[in-house]
Amino acid sequence: MGNSTSPSGSARISASIVSTGMYVPSRVLTNAELEKMVDTTDEWIMSRTGIRERRIAADDEFTSDMGAKAAQQALELGGVDAQEIDLIIVATCTSDTVFPSTACYIQSKIGAMRAAAFDVQAACSGFLYALVTADQFIAAGVYKTVMVVGAEKLSSIVNWQDRNTCVLFGDGAGAVILRHREGGRGLLAYDLGADGSQTNILSVPASGCRMPITVEVLDQRLNYLQMSGKEVFKCAVNAMNRSTEICLEKAGVKPEQIRWFVPHQANFRILDAVAQRMNVGMEHFVMNLDRYGNTSAACMPIALHETVTAGKLDRGDLVLMVSFGGGLTWASVILEW
Ligand code: ACO
Repeated sequence: MGNSTSPSGSARISASIVSTGMYVPSRVLTNAELEKMVDTTDEWIMSRTGIRERRIAADDEFTSDMGAKAAQQALELGGVDAQEIDLIIVATCTSDTVFPSTACYIQSKIGAMRAAAFDVQAACSGFLYALVTADQFIAAGVYKTVMVVGAEKLSSIVNWQDRNTCVLFGDGAGAVILRHREGGRGLLAYDLGADGSQTNILSVPASGCRMPITVEVLDQRLNYLQMSGKEVFKCAVNAMNRSTEICLEKAGVKPEQIRWFVPHQANFRILDAVAQRMNVGMEHFVMNLDRYGNTSAACMPIALHETVTAGKLDRGDLVLMVSFGGGLTWASVILEW
């Protein structure tokens, strides 16, 4: 099931993250407010997920707006000029438009007019799929400076009448800039995987060519996210554990050598189960899902940015990022900071 790969060969040009950025909308939607929208309680949401509040983008604020703000911050913090960016890869499942890509909108907004630009769609695993793709371009010597953005306006595909899903998700964006850094080992190992036999347990059924928008589709709200929560939960724990083990083995690293686990921020209980199976204390897991909920492809660059700016990462520290999402897809990356 799935496939995996990783960097190989000592002569390859390594790609390091040289700066990060993030953006979340100012509008906070609390569990107390959700209690007034659907039949739920703060106690249910907190005990089942750990989510206290999430951010919701304004009506006229799009995925590319949030992505561009995160990208701009990464440029500023890295001291990188937009003209130096060779490639922009955007991970999103809530693109501004079917086409052009969100990457093209962001390219224009940040003025990176030399850059090639495209989107990657692997749902919540999208950021790591994009990170690994960026690493390949740098390792191949094709590009020197690559921007990777994870950005989502999930509030636009959430069914706000469905208590099973609407309490889980939020909007936001994160960005990183990758370059070869002299002496830096960058991405040490990764594992990517997918199981396309499980497309039905987490999807937006309509609005693609499979089920175009019709009055009936809108009536049945099939243009919104649907999820079999329990199925997803089980698959998430198994896939994240397996992918983590593969990645650690490829890197020749033991869990206790990892300074920070930066996981996809879906649910506290999923992360607790993953940590327990790995025999790693939760204090080594970066968590911000209580404040932002699940922002899909934006989760991990946001969590990474918050860890960096809090001064919790030193050069040489090992970071393990692991995610899981619709597809099904999963991914893990070990990198040296
Ligand atoms: N408030 C109150 N009750 C609710 C709510 C809510 N918001 N949502 C569901 N319920 C009810 C259900 O209707 C069901 O009621 P029933 O038993 O009468 O039918 C009951 O609660 C289910 O309760 P539990 O069995 O305790 O729910 P569970 O422990 O499975 O938790 C949850 C549900 C939180 C969705 C969990 O399954 C989960 O986190 N799954 C993974 C979800 C996820 O991570 N998705 C995204 C990953 S990929 C991506 O990011 C795109």
